[in-house]
Amino acid sequence: MARIGKKGIPAGCLNGGCGVCKVVIRCGTVRKAGAMSRAHISEEEETQGIVLACRVMPVSAIDLDVIGKMKKAVTRTLWGGNAV
Ligand code: FES
Repeated sequence: MARIGKKGIPAGCLNGGCGVCKVVIRCGTVRKAGAMSRAHISEEEETQGIVLACRVMPVSAIDLDVIGKMKKAVTRTLWGGNAV
């Protein structure tokens, strides 16, 4: 999707390192296209169909939900730090 300019699944590093593209596969089949970072996807999550979208390729029509979150500071203090 990132290659063809489509949005819908957040994309960051596109290399399995940031975790923003975390999705849960509700139905359909995917195959791994690279290593899945254990910092973002535990083995238990993987068995439940939770994957990094940038590390899998669909092999059938799939239905998924995005569960990754962009980690951005949305507010700042006057002193340049992040608000708590
Ligand atoms: S885009 Fe960074 S892990 Fe998928």
